[in-house]
Amino acid sequence: MCYKLWLALACILFYRCNGNRHEVRKFPEGFLFGTSTASYQTEGAWNEDGKSESIWDHMSHQIPCSIKHCDTGDISDDSYHLYKRDVEMIRELGLDFYRFSLSWSRILPTGFPDVINEAGVQYYNNLIDELLKYNIIPMVTIYHFDLPQTLQKLGGWSNPHIVDWFGDFSNIVFRLFGDRVKYWVTINEPYYICYEGYGADIMAPQVNVTGIAEYLCAKNVLVAHAKAYHIYDEVFRPTQGGKIFISINARWNEPDGDDNVEAADDANQFFIMQYAYPIFSKSGDFPSSIKKIIAAKSKEQGFLRSRLPEFTPDEIEYVRGTSDLYGLNHYSTQLIYRNESVKGFYKIPSMYDDTGVFIYQLDKWLLSNSSITKAVPWGFHKLLTFIKEQFGNPPIFVTENGFGGSTGLEDNDRVTYYRLYLSVLLDAIENGSDIRGYTAWSLMDNFEWNQGYSIRFGLYEVDYTCPNRTRTPRKSAYVYKEIARTHKLDFEFEPNTSVPISALGEDGDENH
Ligand SMILES: *[C@@H]1O[C@H](CO)[C@@H](O)[C@H](O)[C@H]1NC(C)=O
Ligand SMILES: *[C@@H]1O[C@H](CO)[C@@H](O)[C@H](O)[C@H]1NC(C)=O
Ligand SMILES: *[C@@H]1O[C@H](CO)[C@@H](O)[C@H](O)[C@H]1NC(C)=O
Ligand SMILES: *[C@@H]1O[C@H](CO)[C@@H](O)[C@H](O)[C@H]1NC(C)=O
Repeated sequence: MCYKLWLALACILFYRCNGNRHEVRKFPEGFLFGTSTASYQTEGAWNEDGKSESIWDHMSHQIPCSIKHCDTGDISDDSYHLYKRDVEMIRELGLDFYRFSLSWSRILPTGFPDVINEAGVQYYNNLIDELLKYNIIPMVTIYHFDLPQTLQKLGGWSNPHIVDWFGDFSNIVFRLFGDRVKYWVTINEPYYICYEGYGADIMAPQVNVTGIAEYLCAKNVLVAHAKAYHIYDEVFRPTQGGKIFISINARWNEPDGDDNVEAADDANQFFIMQYAYPIFSKSGDFPSSIKKIIAAKSKEQGFLRSRLPEFTPDEIEYVRGTSDLYGLNHYSTQLIYRNESVKGFYKIPSMYDDTGVFIYQLDKWLLSNSSITKAVPWGFHKLLTFIKEQFGNPPIFVTENGFGGSTGLEDNDRVTYYRLYLSVLLDAIENGSDIRGYTAWSLMDNFEWNQGYSIRFGLYEVDYTCPNRTRTPRKSAYVYKEIARTHKLDFEFEPNTSVPISALGEDGDENH
């Protein structure tokens, strides 16, 4: 009693008890912390030991180049040779799991199961075993953007046969690695695969058949995902007992004023629900609003049927409910509006023309003048709440979140970003969201797709001028380590970055 009274007094006298009092918040018991990379972005060794060309090898070697500074993933972080150092870094960070992806053309050079490349299989066995040796959970993404070029020649994700091709590849990797892998992500970010790769000329394979190819792709990605899910669920889960899910990327779409609530809802339907609704909703299928809009526009444009392919009733059932967790990749938020000038603005049929909105972000969302990623933590909160409400509070696993910036070890903006985003994640949990884990993108700097090496996302900086691709922890690595170690978010924690991160033990004290 006296003690409490004294505390309260001390509090009133010496501290600001309300408002910005020093608050340390705790993550729930069992909440997992990890970090992520992807094969093409880190492995290098693009043509070594029997690996064949992927669509990113193909695109990055084209002249003239369409990637910033003509960068390629030919060597990248050279993780194919330096994976032990990668695992050492995850140990240094004290993380629960590591999310990485499989290069399809490293395992199946023809794209098909007729040839299994033993050296490629060995590489992933080595990586998985090295992780398990140190009790780090491997979380394996089966497909993260790097399709074998052989399959692209056949139309890639626009060919419905890819459902079988992806099913076969998944079957093989469950058989090869599923005794040790208990977290499977089938496919990473359908929006980027389909819209930027097929409906536009941005990411590989730059098919650019706008308004058509992105929708063929969307349906095939969803059915292919479901195929892998069912194979795992029926054939492998009974003995292997893991979880399998999809990672869907989403920006939050915020209406620019009350007049634009409908426009922002359309953006959410096209950019998020197109991929999430068929899997996570009670009814399945594409959202009825986008079916209506695309059908009407297609008719107007002289097509004889909707540019959005239909799911058969069997396919709707086949896809519905096929994800054990809602894998969420999230980085930022955008404002949405619509006015008269959007009609005819996009000139030709495209997903953006169908959506019929304009999009922008605010410069004031930048954390500092030198920062790149627009930090909008409240948008993350709205998105988490949206998913909870749309889909009956599914278990969410954040499979990517992170901050793109420039080089340098003193990455205060990244530290701020992680803290702000984790803080609203805690708010969402307190408000009932079922969030099971968090994955920082990325373990280290890597090939950032069309941006090459010009944007850095790493907790560790990579020195690309040095043949051994030296990796050095940034300040954010120290901060993330402390969050994972304590399971607490403390905005005032200042790491001592003069101590080597490897010298900080699991208990946070220096090892002597
Ligand atoms: C993609 O298509 C658009 C519209 O037809 C066109 O303007 C653009 O040049 C194309 N891009 C490439 C790389 O061909
Ligand atoms: C950021 O840029 C603005 C406009 O260029 C300038 O007024 C401001 O002083 C800069 N702030 C910092 C912290 O450099
Ligand atoms: C908390 O969740 C409820 C129910 O999903 C929702 O209506 C409310 O807006 C949420 N609160 C905040 C602050 O987001
Ligand atoms: C990597 O290269 C740097 C600079 O060339 C050197 O200082 C460092 O010792 C090398 N590390 C290893 C593990 O070879």
